[in-house]
Amino acid sequence: MEIVKTAGELKNLLDTARNGNKTVGFVPTMGALHAGHLSLVAQAKAQSDVVVVSIFVNPTQFNNLADLKTYPRTPEQDLKMLKDAGCQIVFMPEEEEMYPQADNREFSFGELDTIMEGAHRPGHFSGVAKIVSKLFTIINADKAFFGLKDFQQVAVVKMLVANYMPEIKTQIVACETLREPDGLAMSSRNRLLTRETRKAAPIIAETMIKGRNLLRTHSVKAIEKFVSDSINRNPYLKVEYFSIVNSDTLMPVADFSGDHRISACIAVQAGNVRLIDNMYYR
Ligand code: PAF
Repeated sequence: MEIVKTAGELKNLLDTARNGNKTVGFVPTMGALHAGHLSLVAQAKAQSDVVVVSIFVNPTQFNNLADLKTYPRTPEQDLKMLKDAGCQIVFMPEEEEMYPQADNREFSFGELDTIMEGAHRPGHFSGVAKIVSKLFTIINADKAFFGLKDFQQVAVVKMLVANYMPEIKTQIVACETLREPDGLAMSSRNRLLTRETRKAAPIIAETMIKGRNLLRTHSVKAIEKFVSDSINRNPYLKVEYFSIVNSDTLMPVADFSGDHRISACIAVQAGNVRLIDNMYYR
């Protein structure tokens, strides 16, 4: 496994691979890797000859300084996990490598900026777009693998490529969320949970499933109220939003008419840790 710190070194390695007609799969991460990330690596390996994983805690996507400061960093463990997973190249740049000067580009994603994560984390998606566009340009992978736990991020990245990077050939592959045995969606932030909040956190997915079971008999509003109120009853959990949305457009639905797919998306504050989750409802 090669560990590289500069875009130049990475491009050289990838040029060599491409000269040998090898396809490139890319998994962008912010480190603190868990089994969910490894499943992305496994899918990248199955669909590409060379797998590149980036580890970079991207400051521009944090709208909260405390969140950036406390974001878990476990580089040694990450490298061991990636080696064991058969990853060939790890890109671990320093901040100056990715942002040699301030990146003042503005990205906008229409209504996606105004709902759910867009509404609650101002500037977040613009920051994600800044780093993903830089990484995509450097790596120019055949495929890039993203976890569906960040459901809205997947939609944003697809729009980024379609609207801002039409020259890039990278295909976005969305991969299923992995869960802990008790149902909690895997996330790097889970390791920041206290004993109490970790115990409470599975209530999120559990209650979303209960909400899904009401689909045939209850209105959208009634299910949204049921899920939010049930979760908020736990003293360690506070729902920031719970939205039932069209799975393709991510726009909130008013009712269950039509035959489009429907998903439910949630953000919950668990003590100091902000958790998100989503699942298909129909
Ligand atoms: O999903 C993440 O971990 C990050 O948002 C990403 C895509 C690596 C960009 O920093």
